[in-house]
Amino acid sequence: MPFFETKDHRINLFQDDSIHFLKSLPSDSVDLIVTDPAYSGMNQKLKLGKGKIIGEYKKAGKPGAKWFEEFHDTEENYKSFLQECYRVLKMDRHIYIMFDSFSLLSLAPIVREVFKVKNVLCWDKVNIGLGHYFRRRHEFILFASKGKRNLHSKSIPDVWKIKRVVKSKYATQKPTEVFELMLMGSADKDFVVLDPFLGSGSSAIASIKSGCKFIGCDISDKSMKFAAERIAHFNKHKIDPFQSKSLLGDDESLTKLFRKNKMINH
Ligand SMILES: C[S@@+](CC[C@H](N)C(=O)[O-])C[C@H]1O[C@@H](n2cnc3c(N)ncnc32)[C@H](O)[C@@H]1O
Repeated sequence: MPFFETKDHRINLFQDDSIHFLKSLPSDSVDLIVTDPAYSGMNQKLKLGKGKIIGEYKKAGKPGAKWFEEFHDTEENYKSFLQECYRVLKMDRHIYIMFDSFSLLSLAPIVREVFKVKNVLCWDKVNIGLGHYFRRRHEFILFASKGKRNLHSKSIPDVWKIKRVVKSKYATQKPTEVFELMLMGSADKDFVVLDPFLGSGSSAIASIKSGCKFIGCDISDKSMKFAAERIAHFNKHKIDPFQSKSLLGDDESLTKLFRKNKMINH
């Protein structure tokens, strides 16, 4: 039973562990996977110890905590996750997986064992964030396929200049534009898009804007409530209540692409 479903049945949200949920889906049932997993590697392996973020992380997943439960990205767990993604994805389809630098170093080789990796994309967040040495301004996105499939456009660059969401009530909310670009490259109308680490629902909003169906899963109560409210509001008012304006950075080629795809509608 979904936690939330739109009246037209096009958008369904499920509260579950991602691997457990993937196992419940039929094989070859999904057209596109776009996802931003909750990696534990950076915190557990680097032992950044005394940092403010780590202090907060100790409470992760507990009631009232800012940070969510982490997905335990041991090689074994991560491989099961990828194998399930492969099973549920139809043949000749794409997957996009977001990574911070540290998770990319340890986990990208496992993605290559399961999917055909085509690009390492860089999301440039325009403004600097935290960091003990050089301050972080980017994340990576692995773009890969099951079988063969071309992108819809050959004009999409591999660096995406899109500002971060600031002061969100959901700690890791990503700009919808990051997911809109993935869909611009890989989705047809009415495609079934899956995000097994839904968070605030940015991938769901991108899917609605792109005319796709959507299945979202997240383990947390907060994600379910946040995303359900966001989707219902967007469907009713055509306004995203948690990202009121475009976060596209100063990049002519991306602005042109969004204009062409009529996606600058907020
Ligand atoms: C990085 S956030 C996703 C953020 C999302 N892309 C957005 O724009 O809001 C990762 C999400 O994974 C969820 N999560 C953690 N462990 C999980 C698990 N085992 N199964 C499913 N979801 C999990 C967290 O609750 C969190 O919402």
